[in-house]
Amino acid sequence: MNNMMMQLLGWVDARFPLSKMWKEHLSEYYAPKNFNFWYFFGSLALLVLVIQIVTGIFLTMSYKPDAGMAFGSVEYIMRDVDWGWLIRYAHSTGASAFFAVVYLHMFRGLMYGSYKPPRELLWIFGCLIYLALMAEAFLGYLLPWGQMSYWGAQVIVNLFSAVPFVGEELSIWIRGDYVISDVTLNRFFAFHVIAVPLVLLGLVVAHIIALHEVGSNNPDGVEIKKTKGPDGKPLDGIPFHPYYTVKDIVGVVGFLIVFCAILFFAPEMGGYFIEHPNFEPANSMKTPPHIAPVWYFTPFYAMLRAVPSIAGSAFPGVVVMGAAVVILFFLPWLDRSPVKSIRYRGLCFKLLLALFVLDFILLGYLGMQPSTALLTMIAQIGTIYYFVFFFALAIIPKFEKTKPVPERVTG
Ligand code: HEM
Repeated sequence: MNNMMMQLLGWVDARFPLSKMWKEHLSEYYAPKNFNFWYFFGSLALLVLVIQIVTGIFLTMSYKPDAGMAFGSVEYIMRDVDWGWLIRYAHSTGASAFFAVVYLHMFRGLMYGSYKPPRELLWIFGCLIYLALMAEAFLGYLLPWGQMSYWGAQVIVNLFSAVPFVGEELSIWIRGDYVISDVTLNRFFAFHVIAVPLVLLGLVVAHIIALHEVGSNNPDGVEIKKTKGPDGKPLDGIPFHPYYTVKDIVGVVGFLIVFCAILFFAPEMGGYFIEHPNFEPANSMKTPPHIAPVWYFTPFYAMLRAVPSIAGSAFPGVVVMGAAVVILFFLPWLDRSPVKSIRYRGLCFKLLLALFVLDFILLGYLGMQPSTALLTMIAQIGTIYYFVFFFALAIIPKFEKTKPVPERVTG
C-alpha cells in the first residue's frame, strides 16, 4: 500500500511539483522558533476566509438578488432552509470575525515592525487585502435588503457625488440608477460573490508568496536568515510543519470556542454585528433615525463626519477618510527607526502606539453615536492624532533611545 502511494506520488511529482511545494511552504519552510500567540492571526484569517467562502456558497443557493425578493429570501433561509440559520449567522458573524482577526494581525505588524524592509511588499499586499475586505463587507451588507443595508449603501454611494466635477455622474454610474435600486442590488451581488472574492484570493496567495520569499519576522525583530548553520538552515528556525501547523491548531480551537459562543448565543451581538434596523425590509420612503455602519467601519465613519464640509460639500471628509486608509501603504517608509520590534524600541514609540490603539477604539465608538457638537470635537482631535501617529514615526527615531537588538532570537 505504502509502495503504491509512493509510486502515485512519484507519478504526480513528475508532472506537478507537489512534493517540492510541500517542502518549500511547509516541511522545509523555516519559521522563527519564538512565535507567540500574535502569530495565530494570519492562519486564523485564512480560516475565516474559508468559512466565508463555504457559507457564502450555501447562502447563494437560496438567496435571491432581487429587490422584491431579497429580504424574504433571507427570512426563508433563516426559517425554512435546513441549517439555514446556522449558515447565515456563521457568515454574518464571520464578517465581524474577519475584521477582528485582521485588525489584530495588523496590530502585530505594528508592534514588531513587520512592515519594515524586506517585508514592504508583503505589507502592501496586506493593505490591498484590507481594502478588498472593506469593499467585500460593504457590498455584502446591501444584500439582505434591510433598512440599514439600504440606507447605509445610500450614504456611502452618495459620498462619491462629493467628488468635484464628475461626482454626480460617478454616483449614478455606481448605483446604475438615481437611487439604490434593484439594479444596484444585482451588481453588488455580482461583485460580492465573484469579483471581489477572486481579487481577495489572488491577493492572499501573493501575500503568502511574498512572506515565504522573505521569511517571517518575529517578536524580536531579528532576521533569522542571517545566522545559518553548516547545513544552510537558519539556527533559530524550525520547520513550519509539524511545529507551527500543530501550534496553529491551538489557535484555531481557541478561536472556534469564541466564534461558536457568539454564533450560538449572541449572533446579532446586541446590534453590533447585525444592526436592529436590518430586521425591517428596505423602505426608500422611510429613513432610519440614526444611520451608522457596522463596527469595523465606524472609526473611518467618525473621521468622515469630523471633517467640516466646505460650501455644503462633504469632499474634505471623504479625502480624510480615504487618506486614513492610504497612509497605511506608506508605513514602511514613514517609520524611520532601524529597530523593528517594540521590545527594543523606546518609551515614546510604546506610548504613541498605545495611544493610537485607544484613539482607534475611541473613533470606533464615536462613529456609532449620533453626532453632537462635543462628540464631533472629540472626533476631530482623534482624527488629528490618527495622522500625527504616522508622521511621528518619521520623527521620533531621531531622539528615540532604543535598546540593543540581540543577534539571535531570545527564546
Ligand atoms: C485575508 C486576510 C489576510 C490573510 C489570510 C493573511 C494571512 C497571513 C498569514 C498566514 C501570515 C503568516 C502567519 C502570521 O504571521 O500570522 C501573514 C503574515 C503577515 N501579514 Fe497577513 N493576512 C491577511 C491580511 C493582512 C493585512 C490586512 C495586513 C496588513 C495591512 C497583513 C500583513 C502581514 C504581515 C506584515 C505579515 C508578516 C508578519 C511577520 O512575519 O511578523 N496581512 N498573513
